[in-house]
Amino acid sequence: MPPEEIKIKLFDMVLCFSRALDLMHPEIADHHLRVAYIACCIAEELGFTLAEIQNVLIAGALHDVGTASSALRLGILDYALNSYRLDDVEIPEDIHSHGLAGFELMQHFPPFAQAAPAIRFHHVEWDFGRGSEFAGEPVPLVASILYLADRVAVMPVAERNILEQAAEIREIVAADSGKRFMPEAVAAFQKASAPESFWLDVTCQQKEAIISDRFGGHEVELNLDALHELARVFGKIIDYRSPFTATHSSGVAAVAEMLGQRLGFSSTDSKSLRIAGYLHDIGKLAVPSEVLDKPEKLTREEMLVVKQHPYYTFQILSMVPGLEMINTWASLHHERLDLQGYPFRSREIPLGSRIIAVADIFTAITEDRPYRMGMGRARSIEVLDQMVIDKAIDGDIVAVLLNDYDEFLRIRSLSQGNI
Ligand SMILES: [Fe+2]
Ligand SMILES: [Fe+2]
Ligand SMILES: [Fe+2]
Repeated sequence: MPPEEIKIKLFDMVLCFSRALDLMHPEIADHHLRVAYIACCIAEELGFTLAEIQNVLIAGALHDVGTASSALRLGILDYALNSYRLDDVEIPEDIHSHGLAGFELMQHFPPFAQAAPAIRFHHVEWDFGRGSEFAGEPVPLVASILYLADRVAVMPVAERNILEQAAEIREIVAADSGKRFMPEAVAAFQKASAPESFWLDVTCQQKEAIISDRFGGHEVELNLDALHELARVFGKIIDYRSPFTATHSSGVAAVAEMLGQRLGFSSTDSKSLRIAGYLHDIGKLAVPSEVLDKPEKLTREEMLVVKQHPYYTFQILSMVPGLEMINTWASLHHERLDLQGYPFRSREIPLGSRIIAVADIFTAITEDRPYRMGMGRARSIEVLDQMVIDKAIDGDIVAVLLNDYDEFLRIRSLSQGNI
């Protein structure tokens, strides 16, 4: 397949990742998508062009991405999601740190570069105009819009009819105009939130469709290289979820790509393997940090939670048309040839999925983790050989890897920043 044939829509990827971030907080089901929707409506009311609104969309859909970087920050998100005012609650870290972390993650990927500064300052209060600057830096208008959208998004409670709550929320926001929120943004919000449909959209479950129909416009398409860059950014965020596996996805991606090349995959397909490697554990965003970060052996119940992650990988990536093959390769990485894997117990495991499975195991057993060193050469070869004998993984792929073990180890290590 020539590279130009891979075309993925940027917003499909952004909205799918936004939904994945929301899985970190299942009790507040769609915070990111909600903020994206509200912020886009305000921007539209302010007369933004479609291209500008789309930057707002990206900023809203990914604004709390920095909370994925540690359990502590995820805890902050709990506070931020549960109370409109944060002044009275004691939070364990500076509220702006997760904005900065998000900015740092996003700023180097060109389609996100414009949204990144807004993410950085999305908790800055207007404070009668003093909030147009923060720590000596200008706060972009989009950040002020995001802040308002973020605070509105946390106010509705699930137990009451949203239309009953709408007037109260509008009053609270109006009272804070100038104090907490930029007055122009508040005026635009008041206009945008007058129709009942605004509130029904805010609480509707199918928000991806609402957002892309209304604000997607002529969507930006990603070619293979841009998709690769985006997957690398997302992979970094997925890895951030746990300090134990801080560079795991990068290792799997690099090993998988090289296995593909050695097994005669085209350069496009080898790169797609790399993308699948970056994304294979995206479903882990749905696994609670306490479980991911637990150094001791997991209980049976915890293990059952972990086992769900490839299923979520599949569900998340299914939202993106054009990503089907990469999704199959990524989601079947814990399947085994003897049907003892999980969660699909798939009888047909494509070669790409088998490659990701081997790359995953090789990376997992040889990488160092805070609680243990990676296995040495002899031991890791023994483990891989035994898994072939047990009919867990594909012997031909393992043979390719063992044939050039040192090079695979070097590539794995290099990609994980260890050389
Ligand atoms: Fe936030
Ligand atoms: Fe937020
Ligand atoms: Fe996994």
